[in-house]
Amino acid sequence: MTKKGILTVALKIGFATQKGGPGKSTDARGTAVGFAQNGWAVKIADFDLNQSTSTRWLQRRLTRGHKPEVSVEQFGSMAHALARADDYDVIIFDGAPRASKDTAAMAEACDLLVIPTGLSVDDLDPAVELADALHFKHGIPIERIAFALNHVGDSMAELEEAQEYLSQKPYHVLAGYLPQKVSYSRAMDIGLSVIEVSHKGLRAQAEQLISSIIKRATALQSK
Ligand SMILES: Nc1ncnc2c1ncn2[C@@H]1O[C@H](COP(=O)(O)OP(=O)(O)OP(=O)(O)O)[C@@H](O)[C@H]1O
Ligand SMILES: [Mg+2]
Repeated sequence: MTKKGILTVALKIGFATQKGGPGKSTDARGTAVGFAQNGWAVKIADFDLNQSTSTRWLQRRLTRGHKPEVSVEQFGSMAHALARADDYDVIIFDGAPRASKDTAAMAEACDLLVIPTGLSVDDLDPAVELADALHFKHGIPIERIAFALNHVGDSMAELEEAQEYLSQKPYHVLAGYLPQKVSYSRAMDIGLSVIEVSHKGLRAQAEQLISSIIKRATALQSK
């Protein structure tokens, strides 16, 4: 991976959904820490102005002195966030709970736009609708849109069906997924990310998803 300071234009990764709660902030923080562990200077742009969840997560992280450092700042518009982007090697847009016209602006700016989703049809349909709207209405290239599976329960049949459903769509499905585990939410409660949980197996599981986000985004930037 490219190290801090070498890039002049920041890599840009966005997390957006139509529904609230599928894991934008969870994936955004994991991705931020993944880059920071590799020496990149990272900024999370928190667009959740009402709840400021990633901003508050950073406060918990700072209070406990967790390393590596990541920085989080709240922004009310993409224009403001983009004006600061190139001070960092990578800027990660943690989208507001629901998609809005700003979501298209975010996707237009991003090297990679990730749509986290659960496995039920109630989650998958809005995820695909958002991808379709971004591609067909706003012209976002297919290869820049990717789904990330989250809240995966203990049914392999449900996981396989969701993967099969998404594989029929033109967009990328990221390798790896996050199982639904209290260890992940508890880790974030104390300012850690999903790739910093103490349980080795769950850490490895999260690392698989986060490294596929990092690989895909860096590959797209060099295009
Ligand atoms: N794999 C998981 N296992 C357990 N808890 C999870 C998992 N992923 C996310 N959570 C928890 O689910 C909740 C919602 O996740 P998160 O905040 O990442 O979603 P979001 O898409 O950012 O939500 P919002 O739309 O409100 O911004 C949080 O409490 C988070 O800790
Ligand atoms: Mg969030």
